[in-house]
Amino acid sequence: MRKPIIAGNWKMNKNMAETKALVAELAPLVKGADCDVVLCVPFTDLAVAKKAVKGTEIKIGAQNVHWKESGAYTGEISANMLKELKVDYVIIGHSERRQYFGETDETVNLRTQAALAARIKPIVCVGETEKEREDGLTEKVLYRQITEGLKGFKSKDFDKIVVAYEPVWAIGTGKTATAKDANETIGYIRSVLNKKFRGAGDKVRIQYGGSMKPSNCKELMAEEEIDGGLIGGASLKAGDFSQIVNYNK
Ligand code: PGA
Repeated sequence: MRKPIIAGNWKMNKNMAETKALVAELAPLVKGADCDVVLCVPFTDLAVAKKAVKGTEIKIGAQNVHWKESGAYTGEISANMLKELKVDYVIIGHSERRQYFGETDETVNLRTQAALAARIKPIVCVGETEKEREDGLTEKVLYRQITEGLKGFKSKDFDKIVVAYEPVWAIGTGKTATAKDANETIGYIRSVLNKKFRGAGDKVRIQYGGSMKPSNCKELMAEEEIDGGLIGGASLKAGDFSQIVNYNK
């Protein structure tokens, strides 16, 4: 049995005061949830968020991590720095990082290695662009992102790694992949992971991401292959996010 995991990706939103307020509003609403609940917040909010979730079951994640331990990497944050803050999860290879900040399958691989070495659970994002989908390249792109991005990992690493399938054309656009399509594509990702990483596909948790919201979360979460969601816009409001977390209630 794979435990569902609903994670909020706050992106570059919320200052420290807003973080405190949002967590305070959210915590009672998601108490007793049947899934893992994670908030991936900006670096500057991590310490406040960790303090705010104390005594709750909410976990805190970052949105990026560098692979070097330390050194001349202006603007970067190492896995040990996150570990010091007791961060539980980290998003790696989000499509916005691939699109705007030169993230590649190779850097995704390095970052994932660093996270695991620091015992931080990576949420590794994959997904095709609209053009790639139109050109019939969805499976080819996903195959490359998975086999290159996760090259060298062992089957047991997938107890900790979470994969997020986020079709780029569905992120922040209001367009959602149909539940059936998302299920089928995630099934494909699972089959690749099973083949390439000795059975990892059956145990790895795979989220859907891209305009997931209260009105479509039930349908998406009812699909067999979908183990959770990575939620952008709808994670910024306690009411919306808690409805997604409580999709089965
Ligand atoms: P969205 O973002 O829910 O706003 O589409 C999802 C994501 O980018 O992780």
